[in-house]
Amino acid sequence: MLVWLILGAFCLLLYFAITTMTKPKNFPPGPVGLPFIGSFHLIGPNFNKKIEKMAAIYGNIFSVKLKNMNFVCICGYDLFAEVMNENPKPYSGRPKLLMYELTRGPNLEGVVVGQHGPRLVAQRKLFHSVFRHLGIGNKNFDKIIVQELPEFVESIENMSEANQTVDLTSTFDCAVLNVLAYYTFGNRYSYGDEKFKWLIHCNNEFFKEVEQVFGVAFTIVSFIPYLHKIWLPKAGKAIQYCCRELEAFIGSEIEYHKKTRDQNHPRDFIDFYLEEMSSQSSKLFSESDLRKTVLDFFQAGTETTTTTLKWAVLYVVNNPDIQEKIHAEIDEVLGFDKWPCYEDRLKMPFTEATIMEVQRKANIAPIGVLHSTNKAVKLGGYNLPKGTCIVPCYHSIHYSPKHWKNPNQFDPTNFLDADGKVGTRPAFMPFGGGLRICLGMNIAKQELFLFFVTMLQHFKLQPPPGVLKLDEKYVSGGTLQPKSYQIVVKSRR
Ligand code: HEM
Repeated sequence: MLVWLILGAFCLLLYFAITTMTKPKNFPPGPVGLPFIGSFHLIGPNFNKKIEKMAAIYGNIFSVKLKNMNFVCICGYDLFAEVMNENPKPYSGRPKLLMYELTRGPNLEGVVVGQHGPRLVAQRKLFHSVFRHLGIGNKNFDKIIVQELPEFVESIENMSEANQTVDLTSTFDCAVLNVLAYYTFGNRYSYGDEKFKWLIHCNNEFFKEVEQVFGVAFTIVSFIPYLHKIWLPKAGKAIQYCCRELEAFIGSEIEYHKKTRDQNHPRDFIDFYLEEMSSQSSKLFSESDLRKTVLDFFQAGTETTTTTLKWAVLYVVNNPDIQEKIHAEIDEVLGFDKWPCYEDRLKMPFTEATIMEVQRKANIAPIGVLHSTNKAVKLGGYNLPKGTCIVPCYHSIHYSPKHWKNPNQFDPTNFLDADGKVGTRPAFMPFGGGLRICLGMNIAKQELFLFFVTMLQHFKLQPPPGVLKLDEKYVSGGTLQPKSYQIVVKSRR
């Protein structure tokens, strides 16, 4: 009996070892992995940097095996165009990763990591219809952001009066989260509110820990089936704790909404969602999904926007000539006392182009959110079976010399046409694409414009005394962050 058991276990291990090393027929080239772990040892932290090196060896489409999962990395505009624009449907799935399961439950609820299908389409549709109701896409939604501007300016003013040099991160965190709080809960918080500070703290801790997902301990857990149910590394526990705290906060808001809502006058995203839940015949909406969806907004919509604003500050501090041009444009269009509105961008092409250039150069989401094939498909001449995980390498388009004059330089004219107007650029995809394009793209664009313009309307930003330029190297986290820095903020009044 024991012999059979040992033989059985050996065969199982052998089978597993083989599946972790073999690739499907006519699959993109790539490194041959090791038994059990595949090419994990070649990936690890800073995955995005390693993709670039591998692309130099294997070409624009190559594969990497991690455990028994097939990952296909795509580089270059042609492949992006196919996956994100021309034929997006087969690429609109998401892989099933342990990290996703830990934070969004075994059914991968919410929007970001959910599979594409009727449930996800319904959630996305509802999100857009609430936008339209609250006025996004036309002149009204930016009022939600504009109401945030006085406390935003006051917070920077107070900080810069009390200190010679300042770090604006906490102000950006508050302003950005408040916009989403207003959209989902129907109210904003004062920046000093203890509950609000806790919400921001949990969100930031989440992103601090996420980088550990590529560490050794997390790898072991993701490689041994069911181990996570009995043991998790510290980072895994911290990530779960942060999500639980955020969900509890969201849960209490949902309870409050249930008690106070008037079905004829929905106030915000939660009210609209509850209405869908009560009127639907199908089971496309549920309270648990609502909690995860709002969690998605907070996690997908805060760090990304805050990080982009931090890069924007860094680049205008390092390029005073560009800052001067933006000041001139603001002075001409707005003067000092008028709050900006999103439509003002049409009269401020240089400023708008600068924000786009910040997004291109900072490339904060270097592999975006992974896609996955939901049916067998042919890409770049190779066969990708259903369930292949697609890793888009955004650096390959945002820094392509084919599409940008001088990709390593910060140059807003990359986005200006010969007539001085802002033009679209096909190789610019900071919000991803296809059927999974960033749901909050329109909010994000409005936030970036309004917070950036308001800040430069009121302040001149400079490096600290004795520093010529801020460090432009990034550190990896949930997104590519600038290294922490301090600046001098001078009032322009
Ligand atoms: C500068 C700010 C932002 C950037 C750079 C950004 C970038 C991205 C990227 C690259 C993706 C993946 C798209 C893909 O899979 O192809 C994404 C997805 C998503 N983003 Fe954003 N985002 C930003 C702001 C926001 C905001 C403000 C929200 C608020 C609601 C948001 C909500 C989402 C959601 C829910 C998804 C998942 C969509 C899906 O899977 O169907 N994002 N974002």
